[in-house]
Amino acid sequence: MKISFILNNKFVEIDAEPERRVIDILREDMRLTGTKEGCGAGDCGACTIYVDGKTRLACLMCAIQLQDKNITTIEGLQKDGTMHPIQEAFVAYGAVQCGFCTPGMVITAHALLTKNHTPSRRKIREAISGNLCRCTGYQKIVEAIEVAAKRTERTDRRKKHPVSGIRLQRKSDINSYLPETLDELWHIIQKRPYTMLYAGGTDMLVKLRGSHALKGFHLLCLERIEELHNVYESKGNVFIGACSTHSQLILNPIIQQKFPVLTKALKSIGSPSIRNMGTIGGNICTASPAGDSLPPLYVLNAQMEIRSKEYIRYMPIKDFILGPGKTALKDGEILYGVWLHDSNIYNIQHFEKVGQRQSLTISIASLAALLRYSENGIVEKARFAWGSVGPTVVESIEAETAITGKPLSKDTFKTLIPIVEAAISPIDDIRASKIYRRILAGNLLFRLIKFKKQG
Ligand SMILES: Cc1cc2nc3c(=O)[nH]c(=O)nc-3n(C[C@H](O)[C@H](O)[C@H](O)COP(=O)(O)OP(=O)(O)OC[C@H]3O[C@@H](n4cnc5c(N)ncnc54)[C@H](O)[C@@H]3O)c2cc1C
Ligand code: FES
Ligand code: FES
Repeated sequence: MKISFILNNKFVEIDAEPERRVIDILREDMRLTGTKEGCGAGDCGACTIYVDGKTRLACLMCAIQLQDKNITTIEGLQKDGTMHPIQEAFVAYGAVQCGFCTPGMVITAHALLTKNHTPSRRKIREAISGNLCRCTGYQKIVEAIEVAAKRTERTDRRKKHPVSGIRLQRKSDINSYLPETLDELWHIIQKRPYTMLYAGGTDMLVKLRGSHALKGFHLLCLERIEELHNVYESKGNVFIGACSTHSQLILNPIIQQKFPVLTKALKSIGSPSIRNMGTIGGNICTASPAGDSLPPLYVLNAQMEIRSKEYIRYMPIKDFILGPGKTALKDGEILYGVWLHDSNIYNIQHFEKVGQRQSLTISIASLAALLRYSENGIVEKARFAWGSVGPTVVESIEAETAITGKPLSKDTFKTLIPIVEAAISPIDDIRASKIYRRILAGNLLFRLIKFKKQG
């Protein structure tokens, strides 16, 4: 399949297997070996590239997704054989030892400094939170980025120079599709019943890695269908298109203002690159008990809009998610988007996730909570949902009823502990024991007290 894009300021056309990973195209086909592969599963950031102004992970992108994109790899940052100021700063400040993580770090720093010329240390640490370094320690890397920020040119260095590019020939027996409209999508799905859909690919492509699951299937990426990126208000409700990325939603003023519980949860997902790629629809359809957007969507009583070529149907999220990895989607259907009702009746909207570290962590237990309380501190309405403590998200009407009419206090939460313990069914796994999860699920409630004064 012919795929054309801008790579390091040059127009490139390749003939590649559409499902081939971008990291393999860069390293093996184009010999651009600056981009490294560490984990191959989105966890280390060594393969970070710059795509249309955002960092993405080349190990979790398929060739077809390159079409019409503007890509910068580490090789593209040098100019006439001179190192980029960020690279110079890394060398000068000892931010490199084995150098394996360095290209990914430098690209991430480049993405940050392109948007923000004076980032704080916190912003720098946040930006590189998806880039692991096993040698240097992060202090020198942070310092190098700070210095580079002062030196970096303020102008956009990436001018387009359409130059006839590299041509590669590859054959594939897997068909891949990148529809731009819903009509195109329905047409493909109808003609090719064995089509595997993906959006950001951060769950699907990890799962398919190294497997032969694709044989006989067709691969279809939803990310270019514009309608699936819409976010808008209508009659007191808010619609979120299924392909809205976590980064898009975190920055969206409607979501920030009306649903802080969701914004908090989305900020806790993966790393900046994972949030640039992963979508809310993908998070829901993966139906993982640890999916971080799910507890907020449960407490917000989110309605799923499901579409096929012929019809539209709606269903609450708790009916949509049937079990780990299982949803109510039928053949020929997609999740089109999510509807949320305005939740401004609540004084407190809170999400907290406990993992083994701060970034790139899957939750051991999480809690989404909405609380409305009166001026004298009596709870009038409560919604609770826990993640990672059962096969799906756990709600407890008993706990919500028990707290209603009671003062918002530590003693009240103590009375909820046995109710929560009865509702959840945590398991032992590599991340935590079920006993620890059980204690954690109850203890997360106590955090809500600290919001009372601000409420
Ligand atoms: C390193 C790493 C860290 C991660 N950290 C977290 C984390 O902290 N918290 C968390 O919750 N998740 C995490 N994830 C998982 C993942 O990033 C999220 O679940 C993400 O939201 C998935 O979205 P996606 O668009 O990439 O899904 P995809 O991989 O594209 O799709 C996932 C599934 O959903 C289906 N699908 C997608 N969109 C639609 C649609 N519109 N209609 C029908 N089916 C659809 C696909 O067929 C597929 O089965 C992490 C993943 C990685 C690789
Ligand atoms: S190789 Fe580790 S994130 Fe891509
Ligand atoms: S310098 Fe070796 S992994 Fe970062």
